[in-house]
Amino acid sequence: MSVKGDARTRRDAAVRRLIGEVEIHAAVEQLGRQISEEYADKPLTILGVLTGSIMLVTDLIRQIELPLKLGLIQASSYRGTATSPSELRINTALVPDVSDRHVLLVDDIFDTGKTMEGLLERLQTFEPRSVKSAVLLWKKVRTIVELEPDYHCFLIPDEFVVGYGLDYNDEYRHLPYIGVMEESDEGLK
Ligand code: IMP
Ligand code: MG
Repeated sequence: MSVKGDARTRRDAAVRRLIGEVEIHAAVEQLGRQISEEYADKPLTILGVLTGSIMLVTDLIRQIELPLKLGLIQASSYRGTATSPSELRINTALVPDVSDRHVLLVDDIFDTGKTMEGLLERLQTFEPRSVKSAVLLWKKVRTIVELEPDYHCFLIPDEFVVGYGLDYNDEYRHLPYIGVMEESDEGLK
């Protein structure tokens, strides 16, 4: 049974608020307007990157006032040992036919940029008319690729964030805001 306000039962006991719901909504609305202008008269396919983009994608597509198609692609980084470089795994089973269409990849966060770089490269093999990227968060200080996201809502500092789709160990995705994990808290154990 949950007790309201009890730190042991609160879903966000270990999380410090960084970007609130109102701020996120305003930024996603603005991004939707920008995309609606830039893709007017272009056949657009939005490709959400699983799993982190689920909230952004569902909110964003409702702010795009254009006909569009929706698809999904899965990306995960697998780190075998602490010393080996992470290996990007991409599952394209849910990617629809994008030949002759303009693709916008939507992800939660652009961190080192390796995931988006790998996704853009893989998408090229599907021969779309164009591929661009949109993310909610950009941790620019950690980016190591030449590439930059074509669209982003917020620049954030080098801190581990959760909520609005972003996870820590597959938890916290359901928080409606973006928060920073407080490592001293029990929630990280
Ligand atoms: P990149 O390949 O380094 O740009 O990392 C992108 C992926 O790493 C994202 O799609 C997230 O799954 C994950 N990631 C990076 N930073 C964070 C964070 O602060 N919180 C949660 N997930 C993160
Ligand atoms: Mg992710």
